[in-house]
Amino acid sequence: MEEDRLLSSESTLEDQGLDHSIRPADLDHYIGQNPIKENLKIFIQAARERSEPLDHVLLYGPPGLGKTTLAMIIATEMGVNIRTTSGPALERPGDLAAVLSSLEPCDVLFIDEIHRLSRNVEEVLYPAMEDFFLDIVLGKDDTAHSVRLNLPPFTLVGATTRAGYLSPPLRDRFGVISRLQFYSPDELSLIVKRTASVLGTSIDQEACLEIARRSRGTPRIANRLLKRIRDFAQVEMDGRIDKTVARTGLERLQVDEAGLDRVDHQLLKGIIEKFGGGPVGLDTIAAAIGEERHTIEDVHEPYLLQIGYIQRTPRGRIVTEHAYKHFNIRQED
Ligand SMILES: Nc1ncnc2c1ncn2[C@@H]1O[C@H](COP(=O)(O)OP(=O)(O)O)[C@@H](O)[C@H]1O
Ligand SMILES: [Mg+2]
Repeated sequence: MEEDRLLSSESTLEDQGLDHSIRPADLDHYIGQNPIKENLKIFIQAARERSEPLDHVLLYGPPGLGKTTLAMIIATEMGVNIRTTSGPALERPGDLAAVLSSLEPCDVLFIDEIHRLSRNVEEVLYPAMEDFFLDIVLGKDDTAHSVRLNLPPFTLVGATTRAGYLSPPLRDRFGVISRLQFYSPDELSLIVKRTASVLGTSIDQEACLEIARRSRGTPRIANRLLKRIRDFAQVEMDGRIDKTVARTGLERLQVDEAGLDRVDHQLLKGIIEKFGGGPVGLDTIAAAIGEERHTIEDVHEPYLLQIGYIQRTPRGRIVTEHAYKHFNIRQED
């Protein structure tokens, strides 16, 4: 259980305390995602020169890749305030109206999990995004009338793990749509190095790379593994992290050479052992290994698809020859 939480890339309360200090504060300290960064720099400079808000930005990609961090950086680089909320938190149109009417000109409104906005809230959002006004209905029945409320021009930054779940009219209202990519080991290694220096931990180059290689392309996982290995190093050694300390720590955290954790193993081996390698539907495999479908879809599958261990076919998921090799299992034909 412990390990599962450790390796899932959703944030936990523990993260949030330290998060502030290890979150890069501006674009220059945000490592990787170069195409997105370079474009954003231009769009931000252009908007600032015109004294206009930045156009609405949609950030999507698997959890832990830096969407929330980037939203905060956008506000910093624009020199404006950020208000943060989420799709599920905005239950009624009134909730959205309250947040929107508290904004100052050019502020950033960050809506996390924007694919979970309810239908009627979404409809209020359309004119707000497009023309900066809200129509709210006051009174009931006979006395019901709608009042138009003008809003300051603002930037909506939306984040989602699933761009596909966004309704087309909402998606169309974003001027910038960016898909975050998994990070390379070299990029993650830089992130580990930077986090270690923020935490005041001594770590060598090889150890940074070792953690980076096993972090499934995901900064949040890299930082979390570093923090746990730092605990081992502090309690059982002299606090310094070298390659041996890193490797031993990773082993104890049940992270394998490819960075796969217990759930990844259950998923891949489940498909191999129970379904002859697939194809098998996601709900079937979720039930077979006792994981939630959405956890598999959001957290585990994207990286396994990326490294080619799993493929999606119209008839379901199949495990590839790479995965068989990883487990040293012979693929039967
Ligand atoms: N490009 C990056 N450079 C450095 N650190 C990053 C980067 N992206 C993410 N991180 C770190 O990873 C953690 C998770 O990022 P976050 O923005 O919360 O991801 P998301 O919102 O996509 O789930 C943050 O604490 C941050 O410190
Ligand atoms: Mg986030």
